[in-house]
Formats: sequence, structure tokens, C-alpha cells
Amino acid sequence: MIRFLLNEKLVTIKDAPADLTVLNYLRERLKMTGTKEGCASGDCGACTVVLAELSGLEASGLHYRAINSCVTFLSALHGKQLITIEHLASGKNQLHPVQQAMIDHHGSQCGFCTPGFVMSTFALYHSADSVSRDDVVHSLSGNLCRCTGYRPIIDAALDSCNQEAKDQFITNEKHTVEQLSKLAGQTDAGTQGILMPTTSKEMAEALSQHPDSRLVAGSTDLALEVTQQLSSINTLISVAAMTEMKKVSVNEHELSIGAACPINDISAIFLQYFPSLSEIVERFASLPIRNQATLGGNIANASPIGDMPPVLIALQAKVILDKGDNQRTVPLSDFFTGYKQTVLEQGEWVHSIVIPLSSANTQIRAYKISKRNEDDISAVCAVFSLTTENNKVTAIHSGFGGVAATPTRCDQLRDLVGRNWADADTMALGQQALIDVFTPIDDVRASAEYRKNMLGNLWHRFWLETHTQESMIPVRVDSVLEGAAHA
Ligand SMILES: Cc1cc2nc3c(=O)[nH]c(=O)nc-3n(C[C@H](O)[C@H](O)[C@H](O)COP(=O)(O)OP(=O)(O)OC[C@H]3O[C@@H](n4cnc5c(N)ncnc54)[C@H](O)[C@@H]3O)c2cc1C
Ligand code: FES
Ligand code: FES
Repeated sequence: MIRFLLNEKLVTIKDAPADLTVLNYLRERLKMTGTKEGCASGDCGACTVVLAELSGLEASGLHYRAINSCVTFLSALHGKQLITIEHLASGKNQLHPVQQAMIDHHGSQCGFCTPGFVMSTFALYHSADSVSRDDVVHSLSGNLCRCTGYRPIIDAALDSCNQEAKDQFITNEKHTVEQLSKLAGQTDAGTQGILMPTTSKEMAEALSQHPDSRLVAGSTDLALEVTQQLSSINTLISVAAMTEMKKVSVNEHELSIGAACPINDISAIFLQYFPSLSEIVERFASLPIRNQATLGGNIANASPIGDMPPVLIALQAKVILDKGDNQRTVPLSDFFTGYKQTVLEQGEWVHSIVIPLSSANTQIRAYKISKRNEDDISAVCAVFSLTTENNKVTAIHSGFGGVAATPTRCDQLRDLVGRNWADADTMALGQQALIDVFTPIDDVRASAEYRKNMLGNLWHRFWLETHTQESMIPVRVDSVLEGAAHA
């Protein structure tokens, strides 16, 4: 069974195609057409809905998450409250403060994008007591409008989200929490085509009994096979109920992140240890995609243009692979074996990712080159991690996306160990190595020549940003460890 609240109503789904998206369920089965379809690929935000879920151990109440319903399968609804644009007004005439602000600020013209903008803003309305313009822009990063222009929409969000939050969802919160808590206690999750194991043993059994099934996490890649390539998926095995794959822990030496953690949920702790990587984390897709997309999915899909694999390769991360009866650890740099291919064996999955913490004299930078600032895949991604002592290079690690068939690194940069980092020749040698080693391809995102030039230019930029003593602003592991004691 898939059980969830559609606003306040308990819905039980016993039988549904595994690959039915939430958008098609709403529009075609329930005839709730307020949620729009624009691109069906997670790029426009017209289909945005909000999922409210129990906040977890650290906080009480509900956590509100905007997601793209076009790239979400029904299994993602289990145990949550689904809120759509139809649920926002209370009574016949009382618009939600977010809707009213859109009218007051003239935030809508043709109106096609409006439900999506309202739902993204509604999630923000429930996330913070006061919000800045940056918070609004960040929250609306997945929504496109082609006629109104963004200023009135941003004004509407600033106005409504800085009012005291007061709506029927807050009034009903206690009741909603009670209902969701009851759902969380029920053990018969899943339907015939959707399996939701809760332990490694169950996961291994499910994979062995259904060898043709597909594993699904956030579905932000997998759903595109259905909506863009028009493929069918008969059996899905969801990691949504695998609590052991959603844990984050840290010790003196390493940060361990469960593969089923959405990118947005781990960004705060990740950036606590690696603050210089904020740009790449914040420019990963859009907020609704980051709310769903998992770190494990970003690795397992083995895309040569995924953003986190180059970062994690440069950080020398390892992946823990699980098969139920045994686990093995593989350096991420050895995980990818070819275009979209990995060392994963039949019946094996990515359980977690272990990232060594950097030493105090290590500087790390990640650069993402893409056509759009937000919600766009990289044409080139370059990540460098440099350790120096008195300006002498003692270690250098790298990770790249978009320049080979797999996410990769450049071992030749290690020849710079022992050289003076401040020396322009050191920069020039590294630059030449990068240009010589890679043979990127032309595609719609960038030409091979552009990618090669980018590699050299980004390396130059890294050197400019880091080669003087003044630019050495190391991450102090000892001070951040204190703040992470709760994890
Ligand atoms: C609009 C849009 C923008 C995007 N922007 C970016 C971007 O900026 N940067 C970027 O890197 N990516 C981007 N992506 C791609 C995608 O969001 C990421 O790759 C995401 O991390 C995939 O994770 P998921 O949980 O959604 O994976 P899913 O779609 O659920 O799964 C992807 C694949 O991995 C497999 N899989 C999932 N979890 C596991 C596991 N634990 N073990 C083994 N196999 C597993 C699935 O079977 C499937 O084959 C974007 C996607 C969209 C739709
Ligand atoms: S329809 Fe465009 S993001 Fe879903
Ligand atoms: S109001 Fe027309 S697309 Fe936004």
C-alpha cells in the first residue's frame, strides 16, 4: 500500500503503475488540473507541489518541501502529506497569504507558471520566520516565468513570507502530525509493482526476487526515462524507507553520508566541513530537485556530467557498497568503469559515502561552468584540492566532470608535489598537463575546444585564488567538529 494524506484526506493506493508520476496521478486520475505540466523534465517548475513530512528526531512538527511532481513517482508520497495549489485557499473566498500577495504585487499574467511559483513560495512561507531576497531567489530557483518578469513575483514572496505564518496548515499541524505518525508505524508499505524495503536484508531479497526491477531514490534522473524517453518501468524498489541509508555521522577523520540523503538535507553539514564548495552545492539543479535528488543517485547514475562525483573524487571519498550479506568499500575514483557503467554487481547498491576531512593547510575549490546559473547541468566541472607546507606542494587531488566518459581525475597533477606553489611555472606545468591529458567531446553543452580551454582557465583561476600566503584561509577541522557533535 502507498498511504499518504492528500491535504487532510487519507489516501490508500493498492494498485497503480510503478512509473505513474505524481503529476499524472493528480491531473489524469484525480482531475486536479491546478498543477500544470510544462516541460515534464524538472526544468520549469510549473508542476511544483509541496510535501509535508515529520521533521524527525531533532525538531518537532512538519517539514515542508517543494518538489517537481513531473519527475516524482507515487512511491515518494508514502507517509507524507501532499499539498497542491487546490488546497491553499481556505473556504471559498479566503486566499492563502501567498496567493493574495501574488495578486497585490501583480505577480501573474498568463498564469501558467503561477501555481508553481505559489507552491515554491508556500514551502518557503513555512520554512522561516523572516526571509531575505536571496532566500526568495534561492527558493524560486526552479521556477520559470515567461511573461510577468521576476520582480513582482519576488516582491510577492518577500511580502508574504515576512508576515507571521498563519494558515490552516499551522492550525491543523498537531492533527496532521498525529496522522503521519500513524502512517509511519505501518509496515505494509509498497504495492505489487513498488517495493519499499526497510532493511539491507529486505533490500537484497527484493533485488534478488526482481532482477528486472529498477532501484529508485529521488527519481530525478530515473523519471526522465519515463517522461522523456517514454520507457516503462514495471517494478520499482524504493530506498525511501531505508532509514540506515539516510544517516549522517562524523568523527575526527571522516564524514559519512547515507546514499539516500537528499542533496539539500546534507548541504549544511557538508558545507560546515567544506565551506569553499558552497557554489557547487548551491548551484546543483534547483531547490525542488535538490529536495529530492540523493547523493547516492548522483553517484550511481554514473553520469559524466554529475556535479558531486568530481567533488567527491577530489576529496578522495569512498563508497560503501551493500549486498545484504556483505559490504565492500571502493574508492570513488575506481567506481566508474565506463560511460554510465560502474563496478556495482547484480543485487548490489550504494549504501553510503565516506569523505575524509581535510587538514588545516588544504585548500579546496570547485568550479561549475554551465549555460544557466541555476537548474543546469555542468558543461565542465573542475575541483582541486591542494595541500601545501610553507608554499611547497605536498599533495594535490582533482576531480572533473564533462571532459571524459566518466567523472575522473588528473593523476599528472601529482607531479607538481615538491614544487613551489607560488611559482608561475608550477601553474603553467599543471595547465599544460590538463590540456594534454583530456580529450573531451563536442556536444550540445559545449565544444571539445571550449572544454579544453576551460580546464586550463579554471586551473589558472585556482592558482590565482590560492597562490599567495594571504589567500590561505584553511578549514579548521578542530573548530567545525565541535559544531557537528549532534550529527
Ligand atoms: C532539472 C534537473 C536538473 C538537474 N541538475 C543537476 C545538476 O545541476 N547537477 C547534477 O549533478 N545533477 C543534476 N541533475 C540530475 C539528478 O538530479 C541527479 O543526478 C540526482 O542526484 C540523482 O539522484 P536521484 O536520487 O534523483 O536518483 P534516481 O533518479 O532515483 O536514480 C538515478 C539512478 O541511480 C540508481 N540509484 C539511485 N540510488 C541508488 C543507490 N543508492 N544505489 C544504487 N543505485 C542507485 C537508480 O536505479 C537510477 O538508475 C538534474 C536533474 C534534473 C531533472
Ligand atoms: S513540468 Fe516543468 S518542472 Fe515539472
Ligand atoms: S505569468 Fe505567464 S509564464 Fe509566468
